[in-house]
Amino acid sequence: MISLNKETIKISSEKDVVLFRQRLREYATKIGMSVLNQTKLITAASELVRNILVYAGSGETTIEVVSERLQTGIKVIFKDNGPGIADVNKAMQDGYSSGRSLGLGLPGAKRLVNFFEIKSTVGHGTTVTIIRWKK
Ligand SMILES: Nc1ncnc2c1ncn2[C@@H]1O[C@H](COP(=O)(O)OP(=O)(O)OP(=O)(O)O)[C@@H](O)[C@H]1O
Ligand SMILES: [Mg+2]
Repeated sequence: MISLNKETIKISSEKDVVLFRQRLREYATKIGMSVLNQTKLITAASELVRNILVYAGSGETTIEVVSERLQTGIKVIFKDNGPGIADVNKAMQDGYSSGRSLGLGLPGAKRLVNFFEIKSTVGHGTTVTIIRWKK
């Protein structure tokens, strides 16, 4: 996979989330991503960045334009050094929340993208990687 352009944005407040979403939309527009896929990408990314704020307090996102074979798209990495997730399989189930939320963030985000990977270690943190191709 070829990386064409990359930017890291630190996340520690709602203000950062707004900036992150703006930048993500700019990148998606720049590569000519369809509006439907932009919406899917930004919806998924919004859930994942919210999890950083809610569960870890802070972290960082990296937006990257990537290309592979005939496809171009956007890869986003969400990284935090929060408490981590003890049971990732459970966290990925529809309706599972450790709090009183809907528990649709992670599984919902997965359905909206072409690639989804979550790595988490209790006491160390969580990293989620997604890719949405432009077409
Ligand atoms: N970055 C993270 N660090 C630690 N725990 C996390 C993180 N992201 C998710 N989790 C855990 O995984 C569970 C499921 O996450 P998910 O986003 O699917 O649901 P939710 O945040 O509880 O509810 P919703 O996103 O629907 O408001 C969370 O309740 C939380 O326990
Ligand atoms: Mg959530």
